[in-house]
Amino acid sequence: MDFHIFRFFHLILVAVFIFHDSWCYCDEAGNYSFMKNATSAPTLSHFDYIIIGGGTAGCALAATLSRDATVLVLERGGSPYDNPAATDIGNFANTLLDVTPNSWSQLFVSEDGVYNSRARVLGGGTVINAGFYSRGEEDFMKEAGWDREEVEAAYEWVEKKMVFEPPAKGWQSAFRDGLLEAGVSPNNGFTFGHINGTKFGGTIFDRDGHRHTAANLLEYANPNTIVVYLHASVHKILFTTTKGNQRPKAYGVIFEDASGVVHKAELATQDSMNEVILSAGAIASPQLLMLSGVGPAAHLKAYGVNPVILDNPMVGQGMADNPMNPVFIPSPEPVEVSLVQAVGITKFGSYIEGGSGLSLSISLTRSFLDGVLKLVKKTKFPTHLISKFFEPLDLRLNVTAKAGVIIQKTDGPFSRGHLELRNTDPNDNPSVTFNYYQDPEDLNKCVEGISTIMKVIESKGYSKYKYDGVSARGLLDIILALPTNLRARHITSAFDLKQYCKDTVMTIYHYHGGCQLGKVVDNDYKVLGVDALRVIDGSTFLKSPGTNPQATTMMLGRYMGQKILQKRTIIRGKEEEETVKTEL
Ligand SMILES: Cc1cc2nc3c(=O)[nH]c(=O)nc-3n(C[C@H](O)[C@H](O)[C@H](O)COP(=O)(O)OP(=O)(O)OC[C@H]3O[C@@H](n4cnc5c(N)ncnc54)[C@H](O)[C@@H]3O)c2cc1C
Ligand SMILES: *[C@@H]1O[C@H](CO)[C@@H](O)[C@H](O)[C@H]1NC(C)=O
Ligand SMILES: *[C@@H]1O[C@H](CO)[C@@H](O)[C@H](O)[C@H]1NC(C)=O
Ligand SMILES: *[C@@H]1O[C@H](CO)[C@@H](O)[C@H](O)[C@H]1NC(C)=O
Ligand SMILES: *[C@@H]1O[C@H](CO)[C@@H](O)[C@H](O)[C@H]1NC(C)=O
Repeated sequence: MDFHIFRFFHLILVAVFIFHDSWCYCDEAGNYSFMKNATSAPTLSHFDYIIIGGGTAGCALAATLSRDATVLVLERGGSPYDNPAATDIGNFANTLLDVTPNSWSQLFVSEDGVYNSRARVLGGGTVINAGFYSRGEEDFMKEAGWDREEVEAAYEWVEKKMVFEPPAKGWQSAFRDGLLEAGVSPNNGFTFGHINGTKFGGTIFDRDGHRHTAANLLEYANPNTIVVYLHASVHKILFTTTKGNQRPKAYGVIFEDASGVVHKAELATQDSMNEVILSAGAIASPQLLMLSGVGPAAHLKAYGVNPVILDNPMVGQGMADNPMNPVFIPSPEPVEVSLVQAVGITKFGSYIEGGSGLSLSISLTRSFLDGVLKLVKKTKFPTHLISKFFEPLDLRLNVTAKAGVIIQKTDGPFSRGHLELRNTDPNDNPSVTFNYYQDPEDLNKCVEGISTIMKVIESKGYSKYKYDGVSARGLLDIILALPTNLRARHITSAFDLKQYCKDTVMTIYHYHGGCQLGKVVDNDYKVLGVDALRVIDGSTFLKSPGTNPQATTMMLGRYMGQKILQKRTIIRGKEEEETVKTEL
């Protein structure tokens, strides 16, 4: 009897503790003791690893390295935990379009005349993206030369912390059924894997629509060995000056806090183990390399970058952005608020995804467009084309909740562009050109992709969410009439899907390249020609992995963190052996 009472109380205690634990965990999510405002940083500090950019790859990498080394993360943005509602699914568009000075989304307009965005917040792209989570394809891993088992373990490490199965409600299910009817088969159910056919993938939104981000991966970090500074904008990587034919070696960085005070961080020891690691994303990583003197020498000299550390004309080359073309479908039925859940992986190299029930606030749309206008003045894009798009705009962009959007993303892509400095301000956008659809194969994929979307819209499975008598072809005209980009519309008498693809091109924000594998970094992600410096983020990709890149980007951070620690253990072991030998 006594024993049973004891058991009873014991169970209650356990229950209270578990409840208390998980309750506190939620409440204090992101209340990291090691996360600080850069204004509190000392003038000079020392760490084993200095990671530039606390983004998608950077957080995974930092959490991993901190298990066996001291780690400093320098993130130019603030904390996503400051405003949790802003990352809820219903605020996706509003947060993305909030491009006010220190917001989480930094607008840029490529020279192609396409609006684009860069993350400026701890967690990087995972804080502002559409949340779809899907692993990379086999070929991508083979080409990168990754170890399969360690890749698997690294994906699982991410998935355990922050990935969910999507709810698959009415609209997403009808979309899935439409894809199957349109021939994107078989039905692969729910899987993280990249398999031909139609499937539901993972999402970083939980069932309550709350977003989980790469910043949550810092829960894996050792709080005693890691420091994360927010509002810490890195201006330059420092290199030892070269004597004779010695290779230049990174030894620290310069960063500025929100009050404009400049700080320095250096590697703790100048041995072969400690390193500076760039994880600033596909725009800032090549830009920062250039601003630090690594890049095309003549271009750097023209902007007064001094000294030029290493002439590598490949820095900033191979910039690519997968083109995205949307079709907007007003619905007679209410739809759930959903971002990407179902995806069609076609055999012709186009990925078909969709969302429903997005809402946009007029005032943010207005401020977004004001931002676009301001930036456009800095690009080569002819301004006379712009004004005619803007006038009728904000009312039309007041997207109602009763609609779906189905998009096609061209895989690869083959079309490539480049990145150049516009000035030496690391907070400013460099000039980026993607050359969308320059390669005819990319264009063919779009044509097939849009044709498939038209079949989905006309399918039986989708019919509930389309007004009777509205044709898929008619819906394309909505997009033609909207200022989805700053490009001219070439309306021809015979409707031409190729022209439609080019005229209405947008971005799916999967831009990559600039510090590509084999051109700027080697297979260990070490920057060619210099020591103690790596780049680990989407700028190293030769193409966009899988249907959507965030899974593989976080996996890469974890994977490389593990590789670096393994190597560190080996080197340390050897050094200890040598010390023992000399002592003997
Ligand atoms: C709107 C949108 C929707 C998307 N939807 C999806 C999706 O549904 N699924 C998917 O898989 N992918 C999606 N993506 C793409 C994906 O989010 C990105 O490819 C990925 O997050 C890039 O990771 P990264 O580590 O290379 O760079 P980032 O995550 O951008 O990290 C770079 C970090 O470096 C910081 N930084 C930059 N410069 C400096 C500096 N000078 N000093 C200090 N810090 C600096 C930045 O603030 C940022 O936090 C989307 C992206 C966007 C923008
Ligand atoms: C965050 O943690 C600190 C100490 O670690 C504590 O004093 C503070 O109350 C916590 N804040 C929240 C919002 O949980
Ligand atoms: C960090 O410091 C800057 C400058 O003092 C300030 O503007 C900003 O609000 C601070 N941020 C936080 C999160 O404390
Ligand atoms: C998937 O489709 C691609 C073409 O895009 C093809 O090369 C590949 O063999 C297909 N895979 C399977 C398992 O059918
Ligand atoms: C835009 O949205 C606002 C707020 O929901 C609404 O009052 C207004 O009628 C909408 N305008 C149009 C043209 O749909």
